[in-house]
Amino acid sequence: MVRRATPSKRAPRSSTARNSRPTRRLSTTDSYEYILGDSPKESERLRNQARLWDPVSHALFDRIAVGPGKRVLEVGPGQGSLHLELRRRVGGPVDAVERSPVFAPHITALAARDGFGAGRTWQCDLLDAPLPRAHYDIIFARWVFLFLPDPAAHLAKLVAALRPGGVIALQEYHRATLDMVPAQPDWAAFCAADRAFFASQGGDVSIGSQLPALLRDAGLQLDETHPTLRVGHPGSATWNWLSEYFLGVMDRMAEFPPFDAAAAARLRRGWLAAANDPSAMAVGPTVLDVVGRKVRKRR
Ligand SMILES: C[S@@+](CC[C@H](N)C(=O)[O-])C[C@H]1O[C@@H](n2cnc3c(N)ncnc32)[C@H](O)[C@@H]1O
Repeated sequence: MVRRATPSKRAPRSSTARNSRPTRRLSTTDSYEYILGDSPKESERLRNQARLWDPVSHALFDRIAVGPGKRVLEVGPGQGSLHLELRRRVGGPVDAVERSPVFAPHITALAARDGFGAGRTWQCDLLDAPLPRAHYDIIFARWVFLFLPDPAAHLAKLVAALRPGGVIALQEYHRATLDMVPAQPDWAAFCAADRAFFASQGGDVSIGSQLPALLRDAGLQLDETHPTLRVGHPGSATWNWLSEYFLGVMDRMAEFPPFDAAAAARLRRGWLAAANDPSAMAVGPTVLDVVGRKVRKRR
């Protein structure tokens, strides 16, 4: 069952927000637009991306010992491939907070089919979810924190829901490794636009690098920071992953100067030309698995 939590009194989302320039940081009390949306095309992109990256998350689940009987919460499960994996490992229900009115019922429908019982799915922003206190053994999110204004406030919410000894495991980007060979003349402006696109709604596309300090400041013990970097030639799953995302959002990125429509058109041509060169390489942003533990208080 999908539960709709009562939204807090944050400001209503502006209809012009999507096209707004990154002129200010949003605070916790502002609403923000989820810039990638929940269209059928985005759902398909998420499923393709999951096929490439789920094994990396499964290895993380091994390391943090997601197993029978654990109380688990997933934030932002999207199309739900990892939600099903978490349920399979727990052998029972897993809770979820999912903001999208399209993705949340999809998660509930998926969970109704595997025989592990109904978890709680709160369809709302994480900050509005009525999470139980000191309850979860494991809280997991992949590619959610990069969208969030005020990540410290979101982390504090999760820490309160974690039981002593429990872990928060997050997978997010360290964006600085993103590159293409042969070099593209507009790359620096493109990377700046990539950052500005996320910052326009208060996010940080490279939040992975900030997470160790954020976890420390939230009072957690840092258990691990584990990198995965993918590099691929044209036709590889890595090339296709980066091309599907960046060629899909290139026109929207052109709204963030100094990247513009002409630069976007040049880069698109360069990208498609490189796709015919077997020696070309796309170097991905590094995915960092960052795990923090709520240490038990000594008696
Ligand atoms: C890029 S998708 C990642 C989906 C999934 N975790 C994966 O790895 O494929 C980000 C997801 O986070 C959800 N989301 C974004 N902001 C959220 C918030 N404040 N509270 C709950 N869910 C949120 C989106 O609706 C979307 O499902």
